[in-house]
Amino acid sequence: MHWVEYLYLSSITFSGALALSPSGDYAPAEVVCESGVNLLREASGLSSDEKAWLEKRDKLTEEAMKSFLTRATANFSDTSILEELFSNSSNVPKIGFAASGGGYRAMLNGAGMLSAFDNRTRGANEHGYGGLLQAATYLSGLSGGNWLVGTLAWNNWTSVQDIVDDFSDSDTSTIWDLEHSLLDAGGWNWAYSIERWAAVIDEVRDKKLAGFNVSLVDVWGRALSYYFFPDMNDGGDALTWSSIRDFDVFKNAEMPFPISVADELFTDSSSVNLNSTVFEFNPFEMGSWDETLNAFTDVKYLGTEVSNGEPVDDTKCVEGFDNTGFILGSSSDVFNLVTEAGFSFMITIMEYLFLGTVTEANGDEAKYGPNPFKDSSFYDESLYSDIVGSDTLYLVDGSEDGQNIPLLPLITEDRALDVVFAFDNSADTSDGWPDGASLVSTYERQFGLQGKNMAFPYVPDTDTFVNLGLNKRPTFFGCDASNLTDLNYIPPLIVYIPNSEYSYESNTLVEKLTYSTKERIGMIRNGFETATRGNFTEDSTLIGCMGCAIMRRKQESTNATLPTECESCFNSYCWNGTIAA
Ligand SMILES: *[C@@H]1O[C@H](CO)[C@@H](O)[C@H](O)[C@H]1NC(C)=O
Ligand SMILES: *[C@@H]1O[C@H](CO)[C@@H](O)[C@H](O)[C@H]1NC(C)=O
Ligand SMILES: *[C@@H]1O[C@H](CO)[C@@H](O)[C@H](O)[C@H]1NC(C)=O
Ligand SMILES: *[C@@H]1O[C@H](CO)[C@@H](O)[C@H](O)[C@H]1NC(C)=O
Ligand SMILES: *[C@@H]1O[C@H](CO)[C@@H](O)[C@H](O)[C@H]1NC(C)=O
Ligand SMILES: *[C@@H]1O[C@H](CO)[C@@H](O)[C@H](O)[C@H]1NC(C)=O
Ligand SMILES: *[C@@H]1O[C@H](CO)[C@@H](O)[C@H](O)[C@H]1NC(C)=O
Ligand SMILES: *[C@@H]1O[C@H](CO)[C@@H](O)[C@H](O)[C@H]1NC(C)=O
Ligand SMILES: *[C@@H]1O[C@H](CO)[C@@H](O)[C@H](O)[C@H]1NC(C)=O
Ligand SMILES: *[C@@H]1O[C@H](CO)[C@@H](O)[C@H](O)[C@H]1NC(C)=O
Repeated sequence: MHWVEYLYLSSITFSGALALSPSGDYAPAEVVCESGVNLLREASGLSSDEKAWLEKRDKLTEEAMKSFLTRATANFSDTSILEELFSNSSNVPKIGFAASGGGYRAMLNGAGMLSAFDNRTRGANEHGYGGLLQAATYLSGLSGGNWLVGTLAWNNWTSVQDIVDDFSDSDTSTIWDLEHSLLDAGGWNWAYSIERWAAVIDEVRDKKLAGFNVSLVDVWGRALSYYFFPDMNDGGDALTWSSIRDFDVFKNAEMPFPISVADELFTDSSSVNLNSTVFEFNPFEMGSWDETLNAFTDVKYLGTEVSNGEPVDDTKCVEGFDNTGFILGSSSDVFNLVTEAGFSFMITIMEYLFLGTVTEANGDEAKYGPNPFKDSSFYDESLYSDIVGSDTLYLVDGSEDGQNIPLLPLITEDRALDVVFAFDNSADTSDGWPDGASLVSTYERQFGLQGKNMAFPYVPDTDTFVNLGLNKRPTFFGCDASNLTDLNYIPPLIVYIPNSEYSYESNTLVEKLTYSTKERIGMIRNGFETATRGNFTEDSTLIGCMGCAIMRRKQESTNATLPTECESCFNSYCWNGTIAA
């Protein structure tokens, strides 16, 4: 008998201890909320929680930014610009990082790229941009990039270095132990695989029995979580997204503000495109800046039945719906990622147990029901949107609209960033490398239906990306604010960092679900080298050039003198408008 058949049988008997009292497991639970509470707000400006958090974060990033820029410009002939910028805290550059999707490939390459900016990585302070992650305000993730962000943030802001160091330690439960696929967690050990799947099924069933609709995303999110939160009880089945508010490292603003991105699927169609509403999840809220919704809800009370933000049943709220693994799964495309043999068994079991027929059209929707935006009135009525009428909000992988890098939350004017580092681990070309398509999509979105609240620098077509090699090394977009005045506002400068081969063939298949220790280390190391152009061996001035990019917007707005070294940097790294299609 195949182990999946065992699983099928054992899961029938495994259900003995089904608890309807859901606290402490995957099932959301009813709680009493304040009478008259309203969980919604219009998306005008940042939330007061985020603003209060930023006050703390800004103090820390200012210090870290100063020390990074001092190091980066150590060889510059004139560094008086630093005193100028740091004499007034409104002129300190603010930065964010965005990690693209692309399965485990994106998670691992992205980890390597991010580690080059993290002063906790060995070598990052010598041949990397160590300290810049400590100077960052925001960190967004989508799909595989979201797994990276989620793993670090919800594990008490652990570091990639710590994760890598644990790979060789066979005694501990290891984060990202991808030796075996999640479809077959025990490898040759069938009993282990069966136990794991039985646990996943049981967890999802708890949610279903508590009265919530479930989908393949619940199953997927639970299965993934065992790889991200191996130290937690049952792979973090009770770990909520909003619980990060209680982590000291977050409360003290000693980490960047994590954001996850997903797309809305219109209930009347299965297509997602640049007109779709893009959602973000942050530690305090989930919702959208797009005019088709223009609202945010308190992420902690997802699952509460509301009308225009008010609980339908006065003081009856729900907590625990915002399971971290569920949100990480909501932002990832199950069908694209899992085409391995064996997946059909997973679907068969899930169909049998709870879901009805699962198809490619409905299989990767995450069901947010009851809809937290039911009857919300903040959207622009001139735009068609069915979000507020639906009983359930359906979310899918954030890349389905073509934007595989989660840039929207970071370019929003209210967040006022100067630079966004965009890690692109997409597979656009036939051999699995990026070609800038994701940036092109974000650029184009500003001229369409959803473009009113966004601005993005000019970028060339994908052929030009390839022909000029802009997809092979770090490239800056939007270097001159004076050329961007036709846009809705001056957007951040984008530092684009595409996946490229240094010491490892990092264009692995998105569906690849097993990575040996050696492969994982190879990918992560290559990511570091990609971000640093071979640890600065290809260009020893690169760290200074990153410093120039970071200072650029504030240098422009304060009329400070641009260091002469920055001119040659911009000649080398800024896309200058040339088209080579
Ligand atoms: C990393 O940066 C933080 C914040 O600036 C600082 O407190 C810490 O000492 C640095 N750690 C290392 C190892 O450089
Ligand atoms: C400064 O210049 C020296 C000699 O050219 C070089 O070895 C070093 O990497 C440079 N440092 C930085 C931070 O650019
Ligand atoms: C700091 O800079 C901001 C923005 O450039 C300006 O509005 C403010 O007046 C400056 N504050 C001081 C004390 O110079
Ligand atoms: C580049 O630096 C990283 C991090 O220190 C290290 O793992 C890697 O081996 C280095 N690569 C080379 C070619 O030295
Ligand atoms: C989180 O990390 C900090 C230091 O990085 C440590 O002091 C603290 O004990 C950790 N908390 C938990 C719950 O592991
Ligand atoms: C987006 O909406 C605009 C305006 O309604 C429409 O012209 C365009 O065709 C739509 N684009 C897609 C891809 O559906
Ligand atoms: C579950 O789905 C059904 C059918 O779409 C819907 O009518 C119901 O409101 C949903 N229940 C919840 C709790 O979201
Ligand atoms: C910078 O210079 C421009 C043009 O010379 C001027 O319009 C602007 O007010 C100046 N800005 C500051 C902050 O001095
Ligand atoms: C712009 O960039 C292209 C290709 O990178 C280069 O050939 C050209 O000389 C540059 N033009 C200017 C005006 O710098
Ligand atoms: C400058 O702006 C024009 C549109 O006004 C645009 O076509 C061009 O690509 C921009 N150049 C750069 C380098 O962004």
